[in-house]
Amino acid sequence: MANPTPNHCLFHLLILMIILSDSATAFLSAWSKACVSAKPAEIHVPQGKFKIAGHVIFKGPCANKAISITIDGELTLGFSHSKNIGISRLTSINSQHFHIVFNGCENVKIEGVKIIADGNSPNTDGIHVQMSSNIIILKSKIRTGDDCISIGPGTRNLHIENIECGPGHGISIGSLGWTRNEPGVQNVTVRTVTLTGTQYDVRIKSWGRPSSGFVKEVLFKNATMTDVQNPILIDQNYCPNNKNCPGQASGVKISDVRYEDIHGTSATQVAMKFDCSSTNPCIGIKLENVKLTYKNQVAEASCKNVGLNMESVQPQHCS
Ligand SMILES: *[C@@H]1O[C@H](CO)[C@@H](O)[C@H](O)[C@H]1NC(C)=O
Ligand SMILES: *[C@@H]1O[C@H](CO)[C@@H](O)[C@H](O)[C@H]1NC(C)=O
Repeated sequence: MANPTPNHCLFHLLILMIILSDSATAFLSAWSKACVSAKPAEIHVPQGKFKIAGHVIFKGPCANKAISITIDGELTLGFSHSKNIGISRLTSINSQHFHIVFNGCENVKIEGVKIIADGNSPNTDGIHVQMSSNIIILKSKIRTGDDCISIGPGTRNLHIENIECGPGHGISIGSLGWTRNEPGVQNVTVRTVTLTGTQYDVRIKSWGRPSSGFVKEVLFKNATMTDVQNPILIDQNYCPNNKNCPGQASGVKISDVRYEDIHGTSATQVAMKFDCSSTNPCIGIKLENVKLTYKNQVAEASCKNVGLNMESVQPQHCS
């Protein structure tokens, strides 16, 4: 295991819940003891509800390379400067805001996380990953007001499997390409996901702006969806209010994206939409064994600046 590196990885977990008495000092004191100890340490949060005024931030660097936190109770938590992280069986029910952000992280495994937030809560992504590599997210249920999982610039080697998402927006790569100099997204697998009543299933979205960004080697496989508004979507012309997008063409290069075994119902007629950049068309986009219906009929597909390779796909034609 590598040493925790200051400012390398920001792992931010935010849960705001119903709370009863202020426990911030107790948490900080438990953390500083665990942090200075050279031996593996466990912080145990017993059953019950804990009040924390604002956020408590657990900061590194620590002498300790193995701190585990077991939470039987409910609280608000914050971590920073972490690396080699495992999160399992964490549940958040009816919290107003809940998100887990990985920024600059390496070697993270998340398993069995349940995030059940109000479907109307704005901008509350379930899990957000960026500038991070070797991340595994397994067996989780996410209901939020925003993306179940969002994937930002600089993400590499991300594996997502066995996810139930909805309501919420879906699983999104992007928005990318806001900055001119941006690291790309590479080697992302999203497998065995069910989406119910989401805005999209899997989406790749970039600003209509010049950028060095890219997305490559992405596999979306075995998705089942019910009443999803845009089941398959690449949108490279993201530019709310037509502001800040000189030329309106995205510099983000999208290549080698495969969709396999994707089935279900679309809540809108256009179930597949590829709206790629006029200056950087999407290349190597493959669809195999895809069937999407709208009101019990085959749905429609829309294509701009994209070369598609389709095998056993309904809708069959893309115009
Ligand atoms: C792609 O990512 C997976 C983890 O999701 C990893 O096991 C695999 O080695 C990576 N492939 C390459 C070529 O780096
Ligand atoms: C495909 O997804 C369904 C759930 O939607 C799951 O039951 C099944 O095992 C998955 N198949 C494979 C081959 O992973």
